[in-house]
Amino acid sequence: MTRLSAITPSGHAHVGNYLGAVRRWAREGSAGDLYFVSDLHAMTTPYHPQRLRARARELLAVLIAAGIEPDQVFVQSDLIRQLGALTWLLECACSFGEAARMTQFKDKAGAEGRTAARVGLLTYPVLMAADILLQGADEVPVGDDQEQHVELARALARRFNSTYGEVFVVPSAVTPAAAARVRDLADPARKMDKSRSDAVGVVYILDDPDMVRRKVKRAVTDSLGRLEYRPDEQPGLANLLEILAACTGKAPREVADGFDSYDRLKEAVADALIEELRPIRDRVRGLLDDPLELDNIRAAGAVRATERGSHRLESALRLAGVG
Ligand code: TYM
Repeated sequence: MTRLSAITPSGHAHVGNYLGAVRRWAREGSAGDLYFVSDLHAMTTPYHPQRLRARARELLAVLIAAGIEPDQVFVQSDLIRQLGALTWLLECACSFGEAARMTQFKDKAGAEGRTAARVGLLTYPVLMAADILLQGADEVPVGDDQEQHVELARALARRFNSTYGEVFVVPSAVTPAAAARVRDLADPARKMDKSRSDAVGVVYILDDPDMVRRKVKRAVTDSLGRLEYRPDEQPGLANLLEILAACTGKAPREVADGFDSYDRLKEAVADALIEELRPIRDRVRGLLDDPLELDNIRAAGAVRATERGSHRLESALRLAGVG
Protein backbone atom coordinates (compact mmCIF):
# COMPACT_ATOMS: atom_id res chain seq x y z
CA MET A 1 0.00 0.00 0.00
CA THR A 2 1.29 3.44 -0.91
CA ARG A 3 0.51 6.63 0.94
CA LEU A 4 1.21 9.93 -0.73
CA SER A 5 0.77 13.50 0.36
CA ALA A 6 2.27 16.96 -0.11
CA ILE A 7 2.73 20.43 1.27
CA THR A 8 2.65 23.63 -0.80
CA PRO A 9 5.36 26.29 -0.31
CA SER A 10 2.86 29.16 -0.38
CA GLY A 11 4.34 30.36 2.93
CA HIS A 12 6.22 28.99 5.92
CA ALA A 13 4.89 25.74 7.40
CA HIS A 14 2.80 26.17 10.59
CA VAL A 15 1.63 23.95 13.43
CA GLY A 16 -1.56 23.09 11.53
CA ASN A 17 0.56 21.60 8.75
CA TYR A 18 2.74 19.89 11.32
CA LEU A 19 0.15 18.43 13.72
CA GLY A 20 -2.48 17.79 11.05
CA ALA A 21 -0.19 16.40 8.39
CA VAL A 22 3.63 16.24 8.44
CA ARG A 23 4.07 14.70 11.90
CA ARG A 24 1.58 12.01 11.01
CA TRP A 25 3.27 11.25 7.71
CA ALA A 26 6.54 10.71 9.58
CA ARG A 27 4.99 8.57 12.32
CA GLU A 28 2.52 6.46 10.42
CA GLY A 29 4.31 5.94 7.15
CA SER A 30 5.79 2.79 5.70
CA ALA A 31 8.69 2.22 3.31
CA GLY A 32 6.93 2.79 -0.04
CA ASP A 33 5.24 6.07 0.92
CA LEU A 34 5.91 9.33 -0.88
CA TYR A 35 5.79 12.89 0.40
CA PHE A 36 6.61 15.92 -1.66
CA VAL A 37 6.80 19.68 -1.82
CA SER A 38 4.06 20.83 -4.23
CA ASP A 39 5.78 23.95 -5.55
CA LEU A 40 3.66 24.03 -8.73
CA HIS A 41 0.60 24.54 -6.54
CA ALA A 42 2.10 27.75 -5.13
CA MET A 43 1.87 29.45 -8.55
CA THR A 44 -1.93 29.78 -8.68
CA THR A 45 -1.90 33.24 -7.06
CA PRO A 46 0.70 36.01 -7.54
CA TYR A 47 4.08 34.88 -6.19
CA HIS A 48 7.76 35.74 -6.15
CA PRO A 49 10.01 33.22 -8.01
CA GLN A 50 13.07 33.44 -5.72
CA ARG A 51 10.91 33.22 -2.64
CA LEU A 52 9.12 30.17 -4.06
CA ARG A 53 12.45 28.43 -4.65
CA ALA A 54 13.68 29.24 -1.13
CA ARG A 55 10.44 28.08 0.49
CA ALA A 56 10.40 24.85 -1.50
CA ARG A 57 13.86 24.15 -0.12
CA GLU A 58 12.78 25.02 3.40
CA LEU A 59 9.78 22.70 3.20
CA LEU A 60 11.89 19.86 1.84
CA ALA A 61 14.07 20.34 4.93
CA VAL A 62 10.94 20.40 7.16
CA LEU A 63 9.77 17.03 5.78
CA ILE A 64 13.13 15.41 6.52
CA ALA A 65 13.54 17.18 9.88
CA ALA A 66 10.13 15.86 10.92
CA GLY A 67 11.41 12.32 10.44
CA ILE A 68 10.30 11.36 6.92
CA GLU A 69 12.97 9.20 5.28
CA PRO A 70 15.05 11.08 2.69
CA ASP A 71 14.30 8.35 0.13
CA GLN A 72 10.55 9.08 0.40
CA VAL A 73 10.64 12.77 -0.57
CA PHE A 74 10.75 14.74 -3.81
CA VAL A 75 9.90 18.15 -5.24
CA GLN A 76 6.86 18.27 -7.52
CA SER A 77 8.31 20.51 -10.26
CA ASP A 78 11.04 17.94 -10.90
CA LEU A 79 8.21 15.87 -12.46
CA ILE A 80 6.67 18.77 -14.35
CA ARG A 81 6.73 17.11 -17.78
CA GLN A 82 4.95 13.97 -16.62
CA LEU A 83 2.53 15.90 -14.45
CA GLY A 84 1.77 18.39 -17.22
CA ALA A 85 0.86 15.54 -19.56
CA LEU A 86 -1.31 13.71 -17.04
CA THR A 87 -3.02 16.92 -15.91
CA TRP A 88 -4.12 17.53 -19.50
CA LEU A 89 -5.60 14.02 -19.79
CA LEU A 90 -7.47 14.52 -16.53
CA GLU A 91 -8.63 18.05 -17.37
CA CYS A 92 -10.23 16.53 -20.44
CA ALA A 93 -12.12 14.18 -18.11
CA CYS A 94 -13.19 16.90 -15.65
CA SER A 95 -16.15 19.22 -16.08
CA PHE A 96 -15.98 22.96 -15.48
CA GLY A 97 -18.70 22.60 -12.83
CA GLU A 98 -16.71 20.01 -10.91
CA ALA A 99 -13.65 22.25 -10.78
CA ALA A 100 -15.62 25.43 -9.98
CA ARG A 101 -17.37 23.69 -7.06
CA MET A 102 -14.14 23.29 -5.09
CA THR A 103 -14.43 25.24 -1.84
CA GLN A 104 -10.84 26.46 -2.00
CA PHE A 105 -11.42 27.90 -5.47
CA LYS A 106 -14.56 29.66 -4.29
CA ASP A 107 -12.78 31.03 -1.21
CA LYS A 108 -9.65 32.18 -2.96
CA ALA A 109 -11.19 33.46 -6.18
CA GLY A 110 -13.91 35.32 -4.24
CA ALA A 111 -17.26 36.22 -5.79
CA GLU A 112 -16.24 39.35 -7.70
CA GLY A 113 -12.62 38.30 -8.34
CA ARG A 114 -13.61 35.19 -10.27
CA THR A 115 -12.98 36.47 -13.78
CA ALA A 116 -9.59 37.80 -12.71
CA ALA A 117 -8.60 34.53 -10.97
CA ARG A 118 -5.88 32.53 -12.72
CA VAL A 119 -7.07 29.48 -14.61
CA GLY A 120 -4.47 27.56 -12.59
CA LEU A 121 -6.45 28.32 -9.43
CA LEU A 122 -9.46 26.61 -10.99
CA THR A 123 -7.55 23.62 -12.32
CA TYR A 124 -5.04 23.02 -9.54
CA PRO A 125 -7.16 20.27 -7.95
CA VAL A 126 -6.79 18.44 -11.30
CA LEU A 127 -3.02 18.78 -10.99
CA MET A 128 -3.40 17.40 -7.47
CA ALA A 129 -5.33 14.45 -8.92
CA ALA A 130 -2.44 13.95 -11.35
CA ASP A 131 0.03 13.98 -8.41
CA ILE A 132 -1.93 11.24 -6.72
CA LEU A 133 -2.84 9.09 -9.73
CA LEU A 134 0.60 9.23 -11.40
CA GLN A 135 2.16 7.50 -8.40
CA GLY A 136 -0.67 5.00 -7.89
CA ALA A 137 -1.31 6.10 -4.31
CA ASP A 138 -3.90 4.09 -2.34
CA GLU A 139 -4.20 6.46 0.59
CA VAL A 140 -3.82 10.21 0.80
CA PRO A 141 -3.39 11.48 4.38
CA VAL A 142 -4.61 15.10 4.52
CA GLY A 143 -6.28 17.58 6.83
CA ASP A 144 -10.01 17.99 6.21
CA ASP A 145 -9.48 21.10 3.99
CA GLN A 146 -8.08 18.81 1.27
CA GLU A 147 -10.67 16.03 1.42
CA GLN A 148 -12.77 17.52 -1.36
CA HIS A 149 -9.75 17.53 -3.68
CA VAL A 150 -9.07 13.86 -2.98
CA GLU A 151 -12.75 13.18 -3.77
CA LEU A 152 -12.19 14.81 -7.16
CA ALA A 153 -9.13 12.59 -7.74
CA ARG A 154 -11.31 9.55 -6.95
CA ALA A 155 -14.02 10.68 -9.36
CA LEU A 156 -11.52 11.35 -12.16
CA ALA A 157 -9.75 8.01 -11.64
CA ARG A 158 -13.05 6.13 -11.81
CA ARG A 159 -14.22 8.06 -14.86
CA PHE A 160 -10.96 7.59 -16.75
CA ASN A 161 -10.84 3.88 -15.89
CA SER A 162 -14.42 3.25 -17.01
CA THR A 163 -14.15 5.36 -20.18
CA TYR A 164 -10.72 4.36 -21.50
CA GLY A 165 -9.58 1.33 -19.51
CA GLU A 166 -8.28 0.40 -16.05
CA VAL A 167 -5.08 2.24 -15.31
CA PHE A 168 -5.50 4.27 -12.13
CA VAL A 169 -5.71 3.17 -8.51
CA VAL A 170 -8.77 4.83 -6.91
CA PRO A 171 -7.32 6.62 -3.86
CA SER A 172 -8.96 7.40 -0.55
CA ALA A 173 -8.42 10.32 1.78
CA VAL A 174 -7.47 9.60 5.39
CA THR A 175 -7.95 12.43 7.87
CA PRO A 176 -6.45 12.49 11.36
CA ALA A 177 -8.51 11.91 14.49
CA ALA A 178 -6.90 14.96 16.12
CA ALA A 179 -5.78 18.32 14.65
CA ALA A 180 -7.55 17.79 11.30
CA ARG A 181 -8.21 21.54 11.31
CA VAL A 182 -6.06 23.74 13.53
CA ARG A 183 -7.61 27.20 13.66
CA ASP A 184 -6.00 30.63 13.50
CA LEU A 185 -5.28 31.64 17.12
CA ALA A 186 -6.36 35.24 16.48
CA ASP A 187 -9.45 34.34 14.45
CA PRO A 188 -10.77 30.89 15.35
CA ALA A 189 -13.43 31.10 12.66
CA ARG A 190 -10.65 30.50 10.11
CA LYS A 191 -8.21 27.63 9.69
CA MET A 192 -4.54 28.38 10.34
CA ASP A 193 -3.25 29.25 6.88
CA LYS A 194 0.32 29.75 5.63
CA SER A 195 -0.66 32.26 2.97
CA ARG A 196 -2.14 34.70 5.48
CA SER A 197 -0.40 38.06 5.48
CA ASP A 198 -1.35 38.69 9.10
CA ALA A 199 0.69 36.19 11.12
CA VAL A 200 -0.34 36.96 14.73
CA GLY A 201 -2.54 33.89 14.95
CA VAL A 202 -0.28 31.55 12.97
CA VAL A 203 2.44 29.63 14.84
CA TYR A 204 5.18 28.69 12.38
CA ILE A 205 7.35 25.62 12.82
CA LEU A 206 10.42 27.86 12.68
CA ASP A 207 9.14 30.48 15.17
CA ASP A 208 11.46 30.85 18.15
CA PRO A 209 10.12 29.90 21.62
CA ASP A 210 9.40 33.50 22.68
CA MET A 211 7.36 34.11 19.57
CA VAL A 212 5.40 30.86 20.07
CA ARG A 213 4.59 31.85 23.65
CA ARG A 214 3.54 35.36 22.67
CA LYS A 215 1.20 34.11 19.94
CA VAL A 216 -0.40 31.48 22.20
CA LYS A 217 -0.86 33.97 25.07
CA ARG A 218 -2.68 36.33 22.73
CA ALA A 219 -4.96 33.60 21.39
CA VAL A 220 -8.60 34.68 21.23
CA THR A 221 -10.86 32.73 23.60
CA ASP A 222 -14.17 33.93 25.12
CA SER A 223 -15.55 35.52 28.26
CA LEU A 224 -17.58 32.51 29.43
CA GLY A 225 -14.84 31.21 31.75
CA ARG A 226 -16.04 27.59 31.24
CA LEU A 227 -13.22 25.16 30.68
CA GLU A 228 -15.08 22.66 28.53
CA TYR A 229 -14.58 21.28 25.06
CA ARG A 230 -17.42 22.84 23.05
CA PRO A 231 -16.12 23.62 19.52
CA ASP A 232 -19.34 25.34 18.36
CA GLU A 233 -19.83 27.61 21.37
CA GLN A 234 -16.16 28.16 22.31
CA PRO A 235 -14.10 27.69 19.11
CA GLY A 236 -10.98 29.52 20.34
CA LEU A 237 -10.80 27.49 23.54
CA ALA A 238 -11.57 24.26 21.66
CA ASN A 239 -8.71 25.02 19.28
CA LEU A 240 -6.25 25.34 22.18
CA LEU A 241 -7.55 22.10 23.69
CA GLU A 242 -7.19 20.34 20.35
CA ILE A 243 -3.61 21.56 19.92
CA LEU A 244 -2.67 20.37 23.40
CA ALA A 245 -4.50 17.10 22.78
CA ALA A 246 -2.51 16.57 19.57
CA CYS A 247 0.76 17.28 21.42
CA THR A 248 -0.03 14.99 24.37
CA GLY A 249 -1.93 12.20 22.64
CA LYS A 250 -5.02 12.73 24.82
CA ALA A 251 -8.60 13.59 23.84
CA PRO A 252 -9.55 17.33 23.99
CA ARG A 253 -12.22 16.65 26.66
CA GLU A 254 -9.69 14.87 28.84
CA VAL A 255 -7.29 17.79 28.41
CA ALA A 256 -9.99 20.27 29.50
CA ASP A 257 -10.50 18.38 32.78
CA GLY A 258 -6.91 19.14 33.80
CA PHE A 259 -7.25 22.96 33.90
CA ASP A 260 -9.14 25.56 35.89
CA SER A 261 -8.10 28.73 34.06
CA TYR A 262 -7.59 29.86 30.46
CA ASP A 263 -4.20 31.34 31.39
CA ARG A 264 -2.87 28.03 32.72
CA LEU A 265 -4.14 26.25 29.66
CA LYS A 266 -2.35 28.76 27.43
CA GLU A 267 0.89 28.26 29.37
CA ALA A 268 0.62 24.51 28.90
CA VAL A 269 -0.15 24.87 25.16
CA ALA A 270 2.85 27.16 24.69
CA ASP A 271 5.15 24.77 26.63
CA ALA A 272 3.95 21.75 24.66
CA LEU A 273 4.33 23.48 21.29
CA ILE A 274 7.79 24.80 22.13
CA GLU A 275 8.98 21.30 23.08
CA GLU A 276 7.31 19.72 20.07
CA LEU A 277 8.85 22.17 17.60
CA ARG A 278 12.35 22.58 19.09
CA PRO A 279 14.01 19.48 17.57
CA ILE A 280 12.40 20.09 14.17
CA ARG A 281 13.59 23.69 14.10
CA ASP A 282 17.14 22.67 15.00
CA ARG A 283 17.24 19.97 12.32
CA VAL A 284 15.79 22.29 9.64
CA ARG A 285 18.50 24.85 10.40
CA GLY A 286 21.18 22.13 10.14
CA LEU A 287 19.84 20.95 6.77
CA LEU A 288 19.59 24.46 5.35
CA ASP A 289 23.21 25.03 6.35
CA ASP A 290 24.30 22.00 4.30
CA PRO A 291 23.01 22.76 0.78
CA LEU A 292 24.77 19.81 -0.81
CA GLU A 293 22.91 17.24 1.26
CA LEU A 294 19.53 18.74 0.37
CA ASP A 295 20.48 18.97 -3.32
CA ASN A 296 21.45 15.29 -3.34
CA ILE A 297 18.24 14.23 -1.61
CA ARG A 298 16.21 16.26 -4.09
CA ALA A 299 18.01 14.88 -7.16
CA ALA A 300 17.63 11.26 -6.02
CA GLY A 301 13.94 11.84 -5.23
CA ALA A 302 13.32 13.24 -8.70
CA VAL A 303 14.80 10.16 -10.38
CA ARG A 304 12.85 7.74 -8.18
CA ALA A 305 9.48 9.45 -8.56
CA THR A 306 9.89 9.93 -12.33
CA GLU A 307 10.72 6.26 -12.83
CA ARG A 308 7.85 5.20 -10.66
CA GLY A 309 5.27 7.23 -12.59
CA SER A 310 6.45 6.71 -16.15
CA HIS A 311 4.82 3.33 -16.79
CA ARG A 312 1.40 4.51 -15.58
CA LEU A 313 1.57 7.68 -17.66
CA GLU A 314 2.52 5.72 -20.80
CA SER A 315 -0.45 3.38 -20.28
CA ALA A 316 -2.85 6.28 -19.72
CA LEU A 317 -1.67 8.08 -22.88
CA ARG A 318 -2.02 4.88 -24.92
CA LEU A 319 -5.52 4.18 -23.61
CA ALA A 320 -6.56 7.79 -24.28
CA GLY A 321 -5.46 7.38 -27.92
CA VAL A 322 -2.52 9.75 -27.88
CA GLY A 323 1.26 9.72 -27.52
P1 TYM B 1 -1.25 22.53 2.10
O1 TYM B 1 0.16 22.94 1.82
O2 TYM B 1 -2.27 23.60 2.16
O3 TYM B 1 -1.29 21.73 3.44
C1 TYM B 1 -0.41 20.64 3.71
C2 TYM B 1 -1.11 19.69 4.66
O4 TYM B 1 -1.43 20.37 5.86
C3 TYM B 1 -2.83 20.23 6.14
N1 TYM B 1 -3.28 21.48 6.76
C4 TYM B 1 -3.83 21.54 7.96
N2 TYM B 1 -4.12 20.58 8.86
C5 TYM B 1 -4.68 20.99 10.01
N3 TYM B 1 -4.95 22.29 10.29
C6 TYM B 1 -4.68 23.27 9.41
N4 TYM B 1 -4.93 24.55 9.72
C7 TYM B 1 -4.09 22.93 8.17
N5 TYM B 1 -3.69 23.63 7.09
C8 TYM B 1 -3.20 22.73 6.24
C9 TYM B 1 -3.48 20.01 4.77
O5 TYM B 1 -4.72 19.35 4.89
C10 TYM B 1 -2.45 19.18 4.08
O6 TYM B 1 -2.60 17.81 4.41
N6 TYM B 1 -2.86 20.96 -2.36
C11 TYM B 1 -2.24 20.50 -1.13
C12 TYM B 1 -0.93 19.80 -1.36
C13 TYM B 1 -0.97 18.73 -2.36
C14 TYM B 1 -1.36 17.38 -2.13
C15 TYM B 1 -1.17 16.72 -3.37
C16 TYM B 1 -1.84 16.70 -1.03
C17 TYM B 1 -0.56 18.82 -3.65
N7 TYM B 1 -0.70 17.63 -4.26
C18 TYM B 1 -1.46 15.37 -3.52
C19 TYM B 1 -2.13 15.35 -1.17
C20 TYM B 1 -1.94 14.70 -2.40
C21 TYM B 1 -1.96 21.71 -0.25
O7 TYM B 1 -1.87 22.82 -0.72
O8 TYM B 1 -1.71 21.42 1.07
